[in-house]
Amino acid sequence: MTDPKNFRIKSFGCQMNVYDGERMAELLAAKGMKQAADGEDADLVVLNTCHIREKAAEKAYSDIGRLKREDGSRPMVALAGCVAQAEGEVAQQRSKAIDIVVGPQAYHRLPELVGEAASGKRPVDTDMPAISKFDAMPARTRVGPSAFLTVAEGCDKFCTYCVVPYTRGAEISRPWSDIVAEAQSLTERGAREITLLGQNVSAWRGEDEKGREGGLELLIRRLARIDGLERIRYTTSHPADMDEGLIAAHGEVEKLMPYLHLPVQAGSDRILKAMNRHHTAESYLKLIERFRAARPDLAISGDFIVGFPGETDAEFEETLAIVDAVGYASAYSFKYSPRPGTPAAEMEDQVSTHVMDERLQRLQARLAEHSLAFNRSKIGQIFPILIDRRGKKPGQMIGKSPWLQSVFVESDAAIGDMVEVTIEQALPNSLGGRLREMVDA
Ligand code: SAH
Ligand code: SF4
Ligand code: F3S
Repeated sequence: MTDPKNFRIKSFGCQMNVYDGERMAELLAAKGMKQAADGEDADLVVLNTCHIREKAAEKAYSDIGRLKREDGSRPMVALAGCVAQAEGEVAQQRSKAIDIVVGPQAYHRLPELVGEAASGKRPVDTDMPAISKFDAMPARTRVGPSAFLTVAEGCDKFCTYCVVPYTRGAEISRPWSDIVAEAQSLTERGAREITLLGQNVSAWRGEDEKGREGGLELLIRRLARIDGLERIRYTTSHPADMDEGLIAAHGEVEKLMPYLHLPVQAGSDRILKAMNRHHTAESYLKLIERFRAARPDLAISGDFIVGFPGETDAEFEETLAIVDAVGYASAYSFKYSPRPGTPAAEMEDQVSTHVMDERLQRLQARLAEHSLAFNRSKIGQIFPILIDRRGKKPGQMIGKSPWLQSVFVESDAAIGDMVEVTIEQALPNSLGGRLREMVDA
């Protein structure tokens, strides 16, 4: 295999996985490699995988089969991301076509590993080094109007169904100065919105320039002082470690958007306990109340799992009840997927696929009612949207509302513009608006 000249990266996972994909692209570009154009063959394909559910994990392998070219040759393949971390060398036994295996804490070594693979080796690196990979990373280059910024990695919560503590390792916070510098550099390169990422972002702790210790609230207040940065978001939070300061920030920091992704997973206290969630349905609802007192127009989004081992019909009804009590603006819901090495996979009373299908369908119908109601509540309102892509129709642009809804508008605005719209139409997953005025370009 020769040294690859161009590459393609496919990301399959969460926002942090997408962020990692961007950083890997920057690393390879810094070594002189080019990103392959659409339709062009790439010499190196990086599959940036997700291990969270079986379906997500299997997708990577089915993709490898499709990489063979018409002449029988194939690109150099790097398996990156959480499947790489979980499977290590076993991945290369499963598929001969995998040249490189690189975990999410080791990808700063990707260029080196590519060199080794070009000389005929099949390197595997799933180390979780004490020295942060971020220190070895080039400056940010690939920036859109809305950028991700990883501030905390790993997770110490050990929900019994979840692989993240194993694939991403222990919780670590990136240092304050690194984060501020990256946010500044993203803003200088055109980002107007930054989403702070962490598997458990609300656990971020650090020290500011003056050595004062604090949590996410302190960081958000500092980032809000960056000129040109107009919107700040963060995800994902855990209900057990949201503090008073962060709640207050939602009422006080104008740039902090009125949107909170706060997964609850289930509505039954017995199931929450079996999931090791460290909160009850009631403590969760009380927390939401406090957030809404600070910021009445806050949109809440959540994650749900149906069919956790042992979940009865009555317990599933409690999930529907919490959905009604909160009135989610949006949500992600999943069928429980047993993951190797997690405690829940060993539990008795696994729920049948048939029952899970039925529960998921009912849950999603209920969630859709709530998101449509939330979207409808915006009809007639006027607010700024951040244009982030082109629509399918000529002259149509799509932007994000403060509540993270996609808003379709006819406009000659450019990507990255903030425009003011009057909302005229609400659909289950989007809004339609009319341009009111250009706020600024
Ligand atoms: N750190 C975040 C995200 C974790 S993964 C959090 O704590 O919320 C995103 C979502 O995937 C989880 O919130 C959960 O709803 C879902 N998920 C995780 N493991 C799963 C599994 N084994 N089966 C089904 N869904 C799962
Ligand atoms: Fe997984 Fe729970 Fe950690 Fe979220 S908090 S990443 S669901 S273990
Ligand atoms: Fe998937 Fe890893 Fe993210 S398992 S959800 S890519 S942290």
